[in-house]
Amino acid sequence: MMASSSPQRAAGAAVAGVLLVAAAALCSCGAMAQLTADYYDCTCPDAYNIVKQVLIEAHKSDVRIYASLTRLHFHDCFVQGCDGSVLLDAVPGVANSTEKLAPANNNSARGFPVVDKVKAALEDACPGVVSCADILALAAEISVELSGGPKWAVLLGRLDSKKADFKSAENLPSPFDNLTVLEQKFAAVGLHTVDLVALSGAHTFGRVQCQFVTGRLYNFSGTNRPDPTLNSGYRAFLAQRCPQNGSPSALNDLDPTTPNLFDNHYYTNLEVNRGFLGSDQELKSAPQAQGVTAPVVDQFATSQAAFFSSFAQSMINMGNIQPLTDPAKGEVRCDCRVANDD
Ligand code: HEM
Ligand SMILES: *[C@@H]1O[C@H](CO)[C@@H](O)[C@H](O)[C@H]1NC(C)=O
Ligand SMILES: *[C@@H]1O[C@H](CO)[C@@H](O)[C@H](O)[C@H]1NC(C)=O
Ligand SMILES: *[C@@H]1O[C@H](CO)[C@@H](O)[C@H](O)[C@H]1NC(C)=O
Ligand SMILES: *[C@@H]1O[C@H](CO)[C@@H](O)[C@H](O)[C@H]1NC(C)=O
Repeated sequence: MMASSSPQRAAGAAVAGVLLVAAAALCSCGAMAQLTADYYDCTCPDAYNIVKQVLIEAHKSDVRIYASLTRLHFHDCFVQGCDGSVLLDAVPGVANSTEKLAPANNNSARGFPVVDKVKAALEDACPGVVSCADILALAAEISVELSGGPKWAVLLGRLDSKKADFKSAENLPSPFDNLTVLEQKFAAVGLHTVDLVALSGAHTFGRVQCQFVTGRLYNFSGTNRPDPTLNSGYRAFLAQRCPQNGSPSALNDLDPTTPNLFDNHYYTNLEVNRGFLGSDQELKSAPQAQGVTAPVVDQFATSQAAFFSSFAQSMINMGNIQPLTDPAKGEVRCDCRVANDD
């Protein structure tokens, strides 16, 4: 029942899109309130390839960069919509003026210098045209595609915010959230069960610090016991890598089977209790997961094709969270780290 919600919403969105395009054509309005795949076709036709080249170059010295950039788009979209707010540095003298210091990002979010390089390349080719929010959306798609995952047509036309929202960034999904809270946090931005399960599949690549699993290894919910939903072989493996008094920031693969590939192993891992984060294993093992998220995990574990098509649709859904398209409220930043002065 839940599994059918996404296609239905997609169909609804498609109908709404057709109506909007029709309305725009009729009154030939200038500003589009809707994101479109061809947004830069006239103003920066090579945008996609320019982003891609910078990413390929960055990847030569940093195999993790594709995962890191994919995560940045998520952390951008969940905080006041996809508006590049995650990229803003602290404004000197202004408290809580950057999301980069919120718990989910501090010493964790990465890839900012590569975003700067993408922005510089785009400013060379088409000055003042491509927003930082759209750079993150493009970088996420390109990163997934180059890692062996699905392709999709990225919808574009977002503007950048003039401010960050630290408070809202403090409320990003946490690896310690239970399924109920995860569902609530996704629902709060208009994403539902299938989106939660499909988007979590991004944990098929990238790295994760020991601090996010030590509770599950040694003292689950204050029990002084390991998490019973953690496979004992995997627990032994992780205990070697993350000893009780070891470095909390030591890195592990989110998917030890194919660490840099975008495939469906995230779900096959969950099937055998080899999810890294508590929030990962919850999707399969929480009592409330039965009949809700667990069947979707099962489906994606069985069919990579089903996962890929849901992931692509859910990335489009996530990219559509509160799109900032009103030029009175947003801008195309010159520098992704600072709002324009005007
Ligand atoms: C469902 C709620 C989610 C939670 C609680 C969560 C939590 C986390 C945590 C704790 C890490 C490791 C951070 C670190 O060790 O510094 C991580 C990494 C990552 N997350 Fe998520 N995440 C969630 C959803 C997502 C979504 C929706 C995406 C993208 C669509 C995503 C993509 C990634 C990627 C690619 C990495 C690896 C990043 C890297 O290697 O730099 N996550 N996530
Ligand atoms: C900044 O955020 C912290 C943590 O939420 C909060 O305690 C503090 O009051 C905030 N400061 C300002 C000036 O908003
Ligand atoms: C961010 O991390 C640094 C280094 O670990 C720490 O000193 C600082 O207190 C953290 N900032 C916030 C706002 O939590
Ligand atoms: C999930 O976590 C929330 C917040 O900590 C808590 O109120 C709720 O009881 C938890 N639900 C379950 C089923 O554990
Ligand atoms: C385990 O967690 C509980 C609750 O957070 C805490 O009181 C206890 O001291 C912890 N045990 C150890 C050995 O750290």
